[in-house]
Amino acid sequence: MTQARNKSLAKSLHSLIDRPIVLVGLMGCGKSSVGKVIAPLLNLGFFDSDTEIESAAGMSIAEIFENYGEAEFRRLELREISTLLDHQPAQIISVGGGAFVQPDCHDIIKAKGLSIWLQAQPETLVSRMSNIASRPLLKDKDPLHVLRQLSEQRDPYFAKADLIVNTDGLELSDSASKVFDHLMR
Ligand code: S3P
Repeated sequence: MTQARNKSLAKSLHSLIDRPIVLVGLMGCGKSSVGKVIAPLLNLGFFDSDTEIESAAGMSIAEIFENYGEAEFRRLELREISTLLDHQPAQIISVGGGAFVQPDCHDIIKAKGLSIWLQAQPETLVSRMSNIASRPLLKDKDPLHVLRQLSEQRDPYFAKADLIVNTDGLELSDSASKVFDHLMR
């Protein structure tokens, strides 16, 4: 993206954004990385639901899973995402890979946000992932196998997002550019 194009796009987009932009998709699809790139360009705040959960709980996501189980994690996830969605002014929110699949969470994201699915093949997800050990659903497992299963189970939910951006074969900056282009349509 050229700087001039960035500036004029950001200006027109900023005035059009009246609700939170919620980045959804499987682990490793680049939700947080893309969110961190586009938020300052649009002059919007950026929040990551997993980071909010960790600060509220005073422990890592891995520790929440280990000490309290996935059901408790999902309860905290719904609570933090509800709070983020009510934040004014609107902001960019990256949510964990399972959030858009939980019925209550799916419904409030659809009701209050503009959801964008960063779509990618499991092979792409694995190649982009740096900290597999910090992800309880992948730890001590074959990540590609798990992500193939999750993709099969979750893609039908992600497909209900307001915008779908395929990011296979794209570098981070190109994924961010493509999200911009979709927002402009
Ligand atoms: C999860 C994805 C993780 C995190 C938790 C559960 C999932 O977030 O919320 O480990 O169910 O796919 P990322 O998608 O940001 O890795």
